[in-house]
Amino acid sequence: MNPNNDEDEISLRDQLKKFAVKGLLGFQTILLFGIGQRLGIFEYLQNKVTISSEGNELSSINFTPDELALELGLDPIYLDGWLHMAIEFGMFEIDDSCKKCIKTAPFIYYLLVDKENLFYIGNILHGFYYMAVFQDRFVANFKTGENFNPFELPDEIKEVTQRMSAGLGLVIERVFSENCEDHKDRLDNGGLLLEVGCGFGFNLENWAKKYPNSKMVGIDIDSQAVENANTIIDKHNWKPRIEILCTETSDYTSTHSDEFDVIVLNQVLHETDTKENYRQKVFQNLYTLLKDDGLLIVGEHMIPDIYAPNQAKYYEIMHKWFEVGIGSHFYDEKSFRQFIESTPFQKAELIQDGRNYFWAVSKR
Ligand SMILES: C[S@@+](CC[C@H](N)C(=O)[O-])C[C@H]1O[C@@H](n2cnc3c(N)ncnc32)[C@H](O)[C@@H]1O
Repeated sequence: MNPNNDEDEISLRDQLKKFAVKGLLGFQTILLFGIGQRLGIFEYLQNKVTISSEGNELSSINFTPDELALELGLDPIYLDGWLHMAIEFGMFEIDDSCKKCIKTAPFIYYLLVDKENLFYIGNILHGFYYMAVFQDRFVANFKTGENFNPFELPDEIKEVTQRMSAGLGLVIERVFSENCEDHKDRLDNGGLLLEVGCGFGFNLENWAKKYPNSKMVGIDIDSQAVENANTIIDKHNWKPRIEILCTETSDYTSTHSDEFDVIVLNQVLHETDTKENYRQKVFQNLYTLLKDDGLLIVGEHMIPDIYAPNQAKYYEIMHKWFEVGIGSHFYDEKSFRQFIESTPFQKAELIQDGRNYFWAVSKR
């Protein structure tokens, strides 16, 4: 018996529609977007807006297939096939205002082109697209119980997944700025921020743009990611205001005496060694690095219990794949509080805004 009364009404036809029409559209969207992204089509459209809008916000971009083929060096027949599918699945529309012209469909600019838009879902689609590459390893791991080592993933894939986590970091920054006035003020007025596990630097870049008066340090143990983060810092001419180092938290703590107003740990905890005593040591270091009245922001997912009523949230459930895929260990509300009790920190407050949240951890 289905406990959900609404679903009792679903007919075979509805169910078929859900899988064969909606599901198929979603799958095609992921494949089409992933290919278009790798070919540079969406970046080309973004650059076109930047060049032509001159500060005015544009919500639709038009182009011709010949233009794309020429500018990006693409085979016209392949491109024609891709555009047919992309029009059919709602990314683009025919633009009647010019001959053989195409334009982005309503809201596609926000959803798939403008990486800084709150509604941009390109990183998530691109992440799903890359998961397809690993099907053989996944199937094999189902039989052996083994995991991927995330550090072994090709840089192209690491970059995409980190763009996803930086998107979550952007949401956390918004919730932080609306709820943590004192620490926001400090960052607005020259405060010091440390991002531990800054990776490729996409999240730090967003925070650095939001708080141009603050000073920041990013550390990570992945040298390739740190190299990329340094490229971002150079591009913006942010040195010496922002420093990125390839180092472990314990090494950084023992060689530096800075104390930070805000420390950000975004989408890092689940990737660290799952041994509880290792994580406790990391938090002891973070405690040393934080000012007495500083704030440690922990952005992590809590995977709800799918068997408990009214808990399932699609995006959170997705992280179950990280447990089987890369051996991540996540906390729920109760176990995170217990973990914090096993560290020198005194307080862990869950700051929530709708479905977005982070842990505000402090010394008192
Ligand atoms: C999912 S990425 C998140 C990157 C960034 N914080 C963001 O929000 O986009 C996780 C990062 O944590 C780093 N990491 C994992 N364990 C770490 C540790 N013990 N110390 C420092 N960085 C670590 C990884 O190298 C990776 O770059």
